[in-house]
Amino acid sequence: MRGGFVLAVLTVLCHGHVLRQDEIELEWWESTIFYQIYPRSFADSDGDGIGDLKGITSKLEYIKEIGAGAVWLSPIFQSPMYDFGYDISDFYAIHDEFGTMEDFEELLTKADSLDIKIVLDLVPNHTSNESIWFQEALKGNEKYYNYFVWEDGIIDENGEMQPPNNWLSHFRGSAWEYKEEVGKYYLHQFVVGQPDLNYRNPDVVEEMNNVIRFWLDKGVAGFRVDAVNCLFEVDKDMFGGKYPDEPFSGRTDVDPESHDYLSHIYTKDQNETYYMVYQWRNVFDEIAAKDGLPRVMMTEVYASIQDVVKYFGEGDQIGAQVPFNFDLITDVDASSSAADMKRAIDKFLTYKPLEKKPNWVVGNHDQSRMATRYGSSLVDGINMIVLLLPGVGVTYMGEEIGLVDGYVSWEDTVDPSGCNTNDPINYVTSSRDPERTPFQWNAEKNAGFSTADKTWLPVAEGYETLNVEVQKAAERSNLKVYQALADLRQDSVFRYGRYDSLAINHDVFAFRRWYKADTYIVLVNMRDMSHEVDLTYFENVTGDVSVVIRSVHSPKSEGDVFDASTVPVAPYEGIVLKLL
Ligand code: GLC
Ligand code: MG
Repeated sequence: MRGGFVLAVLTVLCHGHVLRQDEIELEWWESTIFYQIYPRSFADSDGDGIGDLKGITSKLEYIKEIGAGAVWLSPIFQSPMYDFGYDISDFYAIHDEFGTMEDFEELLTKADSLDIKIVLDLVPNHTSNESIWFQEALKGNEKYYNYFVWEDGIIDENGEMQPPNNWLSHFRGSAWEYKEEVGKYYLHQFVVGQPDLNYRNPDVVEEMNNVIRFWLDKGVAGFRVDAVNCLFEVDKDMFGGKYPDEPFSGRTDVDPESHDYLSHIYTKDQNETYYMVYQWRNVFDEIAAKDGLPRVMMTEVYASIQDVVKYFGEGDQIGAQVPFNFDLITDVDASSSAADMKRAIDKFLTYKPLEKKPNWVVGNHDQSRMATRYGSSLVDGINMIVLLLPGVGVTYMGEEIGLVDGYVSWEDTVDPSGCNTNDPINYVTSSRDPERTPFQWNAEKNAGFSTADKTWLPVAEGYETLNVEVQKAAERSNLKVYQALADLRQDSVFRYGRYDSLAINHDVFAFRRWYKADTYIVLVNMRDMSHEVDLTYFENVTGDVSVVIRSVHSPKSEGDVFDASTVPVAPYEGIVLKLL
């Protein structure tokens, strides 16, 4: 009470008045755009058909041009690539297909000169089975044996050894793998080559803290943290020393090998997880205190909204600044109404702690591309939502040009999630290869991605017309709209302004941002239908509005003026209007 009073008095003395929430200076990450690069698919500098670090470095100007201030790189560490880098065999080394540590340092230096922050991917839940840690464990080295999760098998009525319980891998089948050398099973929540680390062992916690320190000390601006909610399994001592079976999920549309067959009450979202995240945040802040650059933590968690917001932390327990908000991936798509969109957006805004920043994600390397899910006509409208809502915007590479999923045949499929279906027909619903096809730079060979005769995944059809070069040259394109949005986002209205929204009718979603004397209204028509909308349903909106940015196929021109009570909206149109 008293402390608060003293602080208030001091604030008044220092600034002449107490700062309002919308006057507090933002940290670098609070208003930037994070651009996700999947390194294997962005740019290949050495012609082996696989993207690499030098390739990324050569394209940093492009990232600058589109207006992103930070890049998150999917894993670049040493890996046998069973899960394309999410199976790490050496957390302290760069994978040779991507380049060398010098290449990475060059990337950092060039990014720094362009004022682009680099965020890496931390994969704490598991290592590769080829890591020294796992190899040592197999050799009977007790320290490293304790890094992993081991369990005795069960002898069935035929005298045969079976896995300890019914736990399932995300990529189908048992989550347990037997190791002759050890005489036990180890847990792998993902592929067989991804043994889970044991976070009940303080040595593992310290090891991962050191990994974090190693990269942050190099000037890396933070980490996206992979599969965080799988970190802990239930404490087996609570169950008589044996990990208990998980219950049936009730889903009859999936087969018993599918991860969705069970309800993951013992392998996901355990309470200890949040404290591990708060503990990591202390490590981030410890480095930030040394060099003055706030480090950002972004957590990848698909869970209930109540659980997702726990990653922010509360009170003294401070967690991630950006617990990814996947609602615009999981809750809405091309079939959604304006009301569905409003509800999906309000969900995160409603549940997040008041003082924390929201974030907006519409795609990543695990999800069908935004343009495919929403339809190419909605690309500009969806980018308006991602970039003009309050808080952090996240773009998966290609969303700025409306890249669509590529077709990858069964023969060309490499993603374990697709391959493990063993189903040449239905693999497509599980494979993540379509959203990982190479980036499309131009109309040349392999879309300018690589000079190789064969790229690691095929380039998507249609790249001759859907690519960066074409969109740069065109007078109007998704890319140009994206750049305009990224520019406008710098305005105080979008940095500090308030927000409200309306489902104007079944099809048209509208939101308003305002700050001091300025008000903007964004309209997104989600359907192939024309409308005339009345924006005076928004409080304090009357008079004229003028067009600031409009989607590629909009019949409007910049500067067109309409009466706010009768604004025509074309099919799938996205419009940013300014109240005059
Ligand atoms: C995350 C990654 C995904 C990976 C999995 C296992 O979900 O985004 O690509 O397969 O974790 O590391
Ligand atoms: Mg290469």
